[in-house]
Parts: sequence; C-alpha cells; structure tokens
Amino acid sequence: MRTVTLPSGTPLPALGLGTWHYGESAPTRADEVRAVRRAIELGVRLFDTAEMYGEGGAEEVLGQALAEALRAGDVRREELTVVSKVYPHNASRQGLPQACERSLRRLQLDRIDLYLLHWPGSHPLRDTVAAFEALQSAGRITHWGVSNFDTREMRALWQVPGGPACAVNQVYYSLSQRGIEFDLVPWMRAHRMPVMAYCPIDQGALAAEPELLPIAQRLGATPAQLALAWLLQRGDTVAIPKAVREPHLRDNAAAAELALDAQALADLEALFPPPAEKQELMVL
Ligand SMILES: NC(=O)c1ccc[n+]([C@@H]2O[C@H](COP(=O)([O-])OP(=O)(O)OC[C@H]3O[C@@H](n4cnc5c(N)ncnc54)[C@H](OP(=O)(O)O)[C@@H]3O)[C@@H](O)[C@H]2O)c1
Repeated sequence: MRTVTLPSGTPLPALGLGTWHYGESAPTRADEVRAVRRAIELGVRLFDTAEMYGEGGAEEVLGQALAEALRAGDVRREELTVVSKVYPHNASRQGLPQACERSLRRLQLDRIDLYLLHWPGSHPLRDTVAAFEALQSAGRITHWGVSNFDTREMRALWQVPGGPACAVNQVYYSLSQRGIEFDLVPWMRAHRMPVMAYCPIDQGALAAEPELLPIAQRLGATPAQLALAWLLQRGDTVAIPKAVREPHLRDNAAAAELALDAQALADLEALFPPPAEKQELMVL
C-alpha cells in the first residue's frame, strides 16, 4: 500500500475506507461489519470515522469489525490507522477528553491514531489544541488534526500554541472539486502536511461520469478507480472512499495499484481543470 508522510515523518496509508452512513440502521449493520473485514482482507489499513456518523453507530460498527479481525489474526493493531473526529461542540478542554473516551469505548480500542476536530467551532482553538496535547500525553491519541479548515483557519491555527503540530487537514477533494488547489493545497504543501481527501469519488457521482469512461477503459480501469488514482498520484493525498458493496471495495483497493500515464493525466486535466481563482471551501 502506498503511503504519505505526516509532518512528524510518520507514514500514513494513502488509501483508506470511509464510514459515513455506517451504523445508521440495524438491518445494514452486518453488511457494514463484513465490508470492513473485507477491506482488511484487500489490504486496507486506514479507517475513517467520526462520533457524528450514526451518532456513534459507525464507530461501533468499525469497533466490532476491527475487534473481530484482530481476534481472527487477520491484522495486527500496529498495522492499523484509525481516524475519528470530535464534534466541534465537544472540543473544549473538558469536553474533548470525555468525547474521546466515548469514541474509544465504541471503537473497542485504547488509542485513536489520528483524532480530528470535525469542523471549526466556537470553542477557542487554543483550548482544543491543549486538550489534544493532553490526550497525546495520556497515550489516548497518537496524532491530532483538523477537518474542513480553509486557508484562513489554518493560518489562525498556526497562531495558537502547539497549533503547528497539526498532522492533517481532511477536506472535500476530488477530480470534480479541485477548489482547494488554489491556495489551501499550496499552504499545506509549504507546511509538509498531507491532504486527507473526503468524497474522493464525489459521493459516487464520478463513478457514473460518462466522460471518464473512455479514459478508464483505455487503462483497463473503472471511472471510480481513475478518480482515486488521480488523487493518489499527487503523492501527499490520502483518499478515504466509503463503500459497502463488494465490487466497490475491490475496485477501490485495486485503485492503489493503478498508474496513470501522461495521456490520462492530460485528459483528466482538460476535463476537470484546476481553479483559476479562490473558491470557498466545499463543506458537506
Ligand atoms: N470530514 C468531513 O466533514 C467528511 C465529510 C464527508 C465525508 N467524510 C469521510 O469521507 C468518506 C468518503 O466520503 P463519502 O462517503 O461522502 O463519499 P465517496 O467516498 O466519494 O462516495 C461514496 C459512495 O460511492 C459509492 N462507491 C464507492 N466506491 C465505488 C466504486 N468503486 N464504484 C461506484 N460507486 C462507488 C458508495 O457506494 P456503497 O457504499 O453502496 O458501496 C457510496 O455510495 C466518508 O465515508 C467519511 O468517512 C468526511
């Protein structure tokens, strides 16, 4: 599996599995647990979740699947990167450690590898960063980061004590949503911080994009794989497609091995040009 490098030098798998909409209903739970276990079989080692998803339900599904996989010997804990996110309204000095403990219980883990502030909120950033640092000292999280931060919010974070220790920013980023390339990506690159790309296939829309089909077919790939491979070839981008269905899981895992040639890159650039001016961050 390809990796990207965090500012600390730690490698992070470049392809993961998203879990938004997991854990929202009991009848689909078994399929979701199976999907996580299948992803592990296919080599996926990074899992993205949040206390918000299914109000804890997604963390429970992920926790159950990881516990089963660990018990079965399919994977070792140290191979896994588990990412979760705290609600902004819980990101205070007192609230953040409590939210983290609830997430850890649901995940059946004693440590979250990467814990993110889900979006900018009203608690002062200096309090959130201090609470992240306390969780690191207590060994409950390894790295911390943010999500849905635009350039001005990243700059504000850099002014806060400890803020430059932020490991990643998770934002909406796909072939069809390239707005962040205007100033956020250059800012993050200057600070050697990877982009964690959510909605990497635009919530499934890019998989059905007819203009991608001829390019994909020439490479023996699917449009979804093309969308993921385009993100991965950037070198400092982690893609976290969500999938439950077996063909999607297989497709996505194989995208990590898909090499885009110069012709494919040029075709994609023409179809989905980079932004010519600042665009407000797309937030879901
Ligand atoms: N930080 C944030 O604010 C934020 C916001 C949104 C998302 N996220 C994270 O990012 C993850 C990914 O974003 P997302 O779930 O919104 O969108 P996405 O990954 O772009 O798309 C997911 C949709 O595409 C389908 N799909 C997956 N692989 C496919 C393939 N190979 N071919 C065709 N269809 C495919 C899935 O179907 P099936 O599920 O039926 O297989 C699902 O309907 C989320 O799950 C979450 O972990 C974070």
